[in-house]
Amino acid sequence: MTNAQNTETPAAPRESVTLTDNTSGKVYEMPLLSGSVGPKVIDIRPLYAQTGFFTYDPGFTSTGSCESKITFIDGDHGVLLHRGYAIEDLAEHADFMETAYLLLKGELPSVAQKTKFENDITRHTMLHEQINYFYRAFRRDAHPMAVMCGVMGALSAFYHDSLDISDPHQRMVASYRMIAKVPTIAAWAYKYSTGQPFMYPQNNLNYAENFLHMMFATPCEPYKVNPVVARALDRILILHADHEQNASTSTVRLAGSSGANPFACIAAGIASLWGPAHGGANEAVLNMLTEIGSKDRIPEFLARAKDKNDPFRLMGFGHRVYKNYDPRAKVMQMTCHEVLDELGLRGEPLLELAMELERIALEDPYFVEKKLYPNVDFYSGIIFRAMGIPVSMFTVLFAVARTVGWIAQWNEMIEDPHQKIGRPRQLYTGFPQRTYVPLDARG
Ligand code: SDX
Repeated sequence: MTNAQNTETPAAPRESVTLTDNTSGKVYEMPLLSGSVGPKVIDIRPLYAQTGFFTYDPGFTSTGSCESKITFIDGDHGVLLHRGYAIEDLAEHADFMETAYLLLKGELPSVAQKTKFENDITRHTMLHEQINYFYRAFRRDAHPMAVMCGVMGALSAFYHDSLDISDPHQRMVASYRMIAKVPTIAAWAYKYSTGQPFMYPQNNLNYAENFLHMMFATPCEPYKVNPVVARALDRILILHADHEQNASTSTVRLAGSSGANPFACIAAGIASLWGPAHGGANEAVLNMLTEIGSKDRIPEFLARAKDKNDPFRLMGFGHRVYKNYDPRAKVMQMTCHEVLDELGLRGEPLLELAMELERIALEDPYFVEKKLYPNVDFYSGIIFRAMGIPVSMFTVLFAVARTVGWIAQWNEMIEDPHQKIGRPRQLYTGFPQRTYVPLDARG
């Protein structure tokens, strides 16, 4: 395949690549499209019509599924931008509501815009009182991600006035409702598992403070949110808010491409995030560190991670896009020290173990050659555990943060003039057509 300048249109030279079928000798030209930053893309939309061939890319390692203006990742240089702003700047200077506004609207809010957005979100944090009863249908020991999937999907049975995806106003109402209610849904999943009563959102608290209050307050006494912990949680929500076309975001887009209602699409995203290779990794990291137990067992587990015959992988390490340090992991590590210091947990054994594991792995040729670095999930679990959040709730917190990213991507997909239902093709290797054999002739 060669990259040729098309000389037929002198006015606006259109870049293209040519594809030669070495069997027939036919040559095909495909347009080469450029974004604002990042790799160019070969526009293969005409490929099947022109060649009769499909592409083949399980896991979409080389496939762009859409055009987007929301998030950009440069995996080789460890860069993550949200609407052009570096994640480090947002984590240091912004808060989660500001970041949510940026993801949704495309620009940082003015003071007035931020105040209105926060007020609008704050006043949608309560759930319809009947949704209470959904929780009672679950076992107390149900995984909270199962509850999140169920309750988020069930919202479509309650909010009939925000299901019409062709109406921008209804899309925004549904968007605000989900951003506002997902912390309540999450905290109530935790309370239900403990047998404690649900705590209602408090309109005088900010997003992170409200979540901590609903998680840890009880009706029996006043609960004071630790401001250092709340700020750390707010920053962690920023770090998890959006991340290009990851598995769960692609799930939301694919569900939305069929016209499914917004609550069902976000419930699908929650289900995809649950997997240990994706958002479930933070829970898996804590379980892995607990299993490793001590520094002297690190070599044993690194050997298992490198053994092709052992399914064990070093959880919290590696990434499809980052072949350098995940910039979120660096901020997460700094936040981890900050929270543990605040809570008097400096020297926490799991943190010490995680830091030693990271040090050894980053010096190990296997990890160096395969460019496996800590990702966003490597330190988050240690912080959540220090905050008193149970391991089963770690991925739930990821879902709370990612909801705004899913929603921003879903809205962008709906508004995309090129949008159509997602329907991939395949390489079929099953039987060609064959004759049916009646049961009595099969012996
Ligand atoms: C998230 O996509 C996103 O952006 C996701 C996310 C987001 O914000 O949405 O960033 C959040 O999901 C972070 C990733 C969390 N998952 C984990 O920490 C689980 C452990 N990591 C691996 O499962 C893996 O690294 C993935 C799933 C994250 C990425 O897998 P890829 O891109 O399919 O890479 P791969 O499996 O092809 O690995 C390449 C090589 C393989 O060896 P070879 O076949 O080439 O010999 O690296 C090896 C893998 O065996 N490898 C690992 C490893 N990760 C990859 N070996 C040991 N331990 C690991 N963690």
